[in-house]
Amino acid sequence: MKILGIETSCDETAAAVVEDGAKILSSSIASSLPLHAKAGGIIPEIAAREQVKAIIPIIDLTLANNLQTTDYRQKKKAVGWHLSAIDQLDAIAVTVGPGLIGSLLVGVEAAKTLAYVWKTPIVPVNHLIAHLYSPWLERSRPPDFPLVALIVSGGHTELVLVTGHGGWQPLGGTRDDAAGEALDKIARLLGLGYPGGPAIEKAASLGDKTRFQLPRPLINSPTFDFSFSGLKTAVVNLANLLDRKSQLTEGIVADLSASFQESIIDVLVTKTIKAAKKIKVGSIVLGGGVAANKRLREEMVARFTGKVYFSSPKLAVDNAAMVAAAAFFNYQPVAWDKVNAQAAILL
Ligand code: KG4
Ligand code: ZN
Repeated sequence: MKILGIETSCDETAAAVVEDGAKILSSSIASSLPLHAKAGGIIPEIAAREQVKAIIPIIDLTLANNLQTTDYRQKKKAVGWHLSAIDQLDAIAVTVGPGLIGSLLVGVEAAKTLAYVWKTPIVPVNHLIAHLYSPWLERSRPPDFPLVALIVSGGHTELVLVTGHGGWQPLGGTRDDAAGEALDKIARLLGLGYPGGPAIEKAASLGDKTRFQLPRPLINSPTFDFSFSGLKTAVVNLANLLDRKSQLTEGIVADLSASFQESIIDVLVTKTIKAAKKIKVGSIVLGGGVAANKRLREEMVARFTGKVYFSSPKLAVDNAAMVAAAAFFNYQPVAWDKVNAQAAILL
């Protein structure tokens, strides 16, 4: 079964064709990230306007590539709705939320229109569930159920028990900042740029993670909730103090990045493993942009005795292949006029 996935929940405009929820036949992404970098965070109106510009060319390019044309000149000629590619599609999957409403609307309305015109089934997909499915992509043997999923992105930090396709039960989530959001804010404070996660990861690779003892919020709490705003404030105060003493050198910024990253990773890994042990499941799945982090992956693998599944970093951050995969394994088409963007939809 070939599904065209469409993802426009934030600053990425992405489309992909995925076969049987695992094999990526074609994938294209445009990003308005450079337009937000200066502000140190996403500007929703700009993101939505860029989505409008990119959506048709990205879907077009994805379908043209789906013809598996390797010759660039032929590819160029193939731009335009290519009937043989469309004929091969069994369904369209689209992210309906959570996300920025202006961005979501662009993908949702495009998907609905195509589903109507092409008479193709349409499957609405929750963005968090899409992140959960990235480890199913490009893998011959899928992850084993039951499992605990840590979905950790710019907007969410969720622990979910997954008993099978369609069977998920939230265990806990962040009470304030998401882990990615905290990384983004501290990176901006330290002048490391945007997005903050990869910038902190890079700086941290040159730093000493034991240099600063930072709080590990809620690490020992009996719930599976998270809270990163206190940790963020602790780093802000420390950075300001060091700055006043003219001690915020490049080396100290690297140490602070490493200590901060370590604190977040320690909390994420400890609580995810605690959940898996308590519920007695042998598998952990990592999804979402922060799951691209190498230290997080390493630490989870080193500390968990069961299996840990994650995708390649480029499939952990926002993409459309994961949307198509989620739709394949939870195939519930609805009438096109019942599909709506829902900015604050829950799991
Ligand atoms: O899933 P995603 O692409 O978009 C949302 O759904 O939010 O996640 C973006 C988040 C950003 O906060 C970004 O800083 C973070 O993921 N991120 C990372 C890494 N790559 C992206 N955080 C830590 N390490 C990374 N390598
Ligand atoms: Zn995401």
